[in-house]
Amino acid sequence: MTDSIQSSTAKRLVILVSGGGSNLQSLIDGCASGEINASVSAVISNNPDAGGLARAAKAGIPNVAIDHRTFDSRESFDQALSELIDSFSPDLVILAGFMRILTAQFVTHYLGRIMNIHPSLLPAYPGLHTHRRAIEAGDQQAGATVHFVTPELDGGPSIIQAQVEIDSSDNEDSLASKVLGFEHKIYPEAVKWFCDNRLVMENNQVKIDNSPISESGIIYNLIERSS
Ligand code: GAR
Repeated sequence: MTDSIQSSTAKRLVILVSGGGSNLQSLIDGCASGEINASVSAVISNNPDAGGLARAAKAGIPNVAIDHRTFDSRESFDQALSELIDSFSPDLVILAGFMRILTAQFVTHYLGRIMNIHPSLLPAYPGLHTHRRAIEAGDQQAGATVHFVTPELDGGPSIIQAQVEIDSSDNEDSLASKVLGFEHKIYPEAVKWFCDNRLVMENNQVKIDNSPISESGIIYNLIERSS
């Protein structure tokens, strides 16, 4: 169990997934190694077949499916989801490939303690098919952004971004795979900062160590070059 190496200050994470859960895995691994001062209290999915649930089970983490198709409204699903999350008393709620739009009421309940990762250089390309849209637009760069979640879809303030060059040979799949590799680096980084009490959102502004950061967030690639 990962709990044995966590300190008494360890944060409690609840992670929401809809799919394969490779970002989830990077966070499970970060907690298990002690890099992130937290334990994963639960993994929850709206998709009973999500690979992320199996990853959680393999790691001995409580995992629960709550199928949105069995609810008659978005509000009733979000209400049940919120009650389930709160039963695990999380310090931080993490969306890791969670592909449901959340109601403003849900998001407001977790404001400042809910994060998402999005596969674009926000504010470019909120929503779906980000890599296809970047290639079709002739962009030279793509990337991923970790941000605090606010009621505006993919609109909350950025914490950290990784930039990836788009090569002329790239297609949607090759670009997605390159970006995903960086997602697995930047998401554990952002979660680590939060769990070390270094990262907050105040009045829609992200601060690290009490200093406001730029609108794009910390640029991960520059961190990598300077270290
Ligand atoms: C990731 O690329 C993540 O950025 C994206 O879904 C993928 C999940 O992969 N999220 C969104 O598009 C949210 N709007 P994973 O299940 O292997 O972590």
